[in-house]
Amino acid sequence: MRKNIVAGNWKMNLNRNEGIKLVEDVLNLLSSNSTSEVVFSPSFVHLYKVNKMCKSIEGVSSSAQNCSASEKGTFTGEVSAEMIKSLGVEYVILGHSERRENFMETNNELKQKVDISLKNGLKVIFCCGESLSQRKNEVHFDCIKNQIEESLFHLNETEFENIIIAYEPIWAIGTGVTASTDQAQEMHQFIRDLISEKYNNEISENTSILYGGSCKPSNAKELFSQKDIDGGLIGGASLNAQDFAQIINSF
Ligand code: 13P
Repeated sequence: MRKNIVAGNWKMNLNRNEGIKLVEDVLNLLSSNSTSEVVFSPSFVHLYKVNKMCKSIEGVSSSAQNCSASEKGTFTGEVSAEMIKSLGVEYVILGHSERRENFMETNNELKQKVDISLKNGLKVIFCCGESLSQRKNEVHFDCIKNQIEESLFHLNETEFENIIIAYEPIWAIGTGVTASTDQAQEMHQFIRDLISEKYNNEISENTSILYGGSCKPSNAKELFSQKDIDGGLIGGASLNAQDFAQIINSF
C-alpha cells in the first residue's frame, strides 16, 4: 500500500540553529494520530544533523535536495549520492523546477541522477511540473508525460518501487496560487494512469504521488483528501513549525 508523505523542502533557507529549532518544534507538534510519514529536506550542510535528529523517530526521515549525476571525482562543489547515503539519509529530491530552470537540468541529466541515486540505495522524490504558458497552451499533460517518460520510464519494476513523484506546477510554486483540488487530482490521476500503462496497476497503486505548490494549512486537508494525492512537497510553509505540523496533521 502506498504511503502518505509530507516533505518539507527548505530550499536555501535557515541557518543551523534555525534548522535545529524548526525540527524540534515540528516534532513536538506532531499528532500521534497522523498517518503521514514526515520528511525534512534541509540544505546539504545541515543534512547530517537533521538526519540524526529524525533517525530514531518512526515515520520521520530526511532528504537531500539534489545530488551529482556523477559517481565521484573532479567536480568541485558537488555532492554525490554515495555521500548522502553514507549519512543514513533515505531520500533525495530530484528534478525540482528551480534546478531545471536555474541550473539547466535536463530530463537526460535527471535520468542519470535517478540511476545513481537508486544505485546507492536512495529513494527518489522526482519532481515534475508545467509552466503557466504550457498550461495555458494546454500542453501540460504532454509536458508531465515527457518529464516522467524521459527520466523514469527506463527503470524496471523493482527500481520503480523506490520512486515517489511530486507534481509541482511551476505557476503554483511560491506564488500563493494553489492548483485547484480538481486540477491537482486530475494531474495526479493522469500520472497514476501513465505508471499503470507503463508498468502495471499494482505498481501504480503503490506509488506515492505528492502535490507541491503553495500548499498550506488552509488547503492541505482538501488536497490530501483526493484519491490520488498522497501528500505534499511543501516549500514556504515548511519553514514555519506551526504551519508545517498542521499540514502533516491534515492526514
Ligand atoms: P511553496 O510551497 O513555497 O509554493 O514551494 C513548493 C515547492 O517548491 C516545494 O518543493
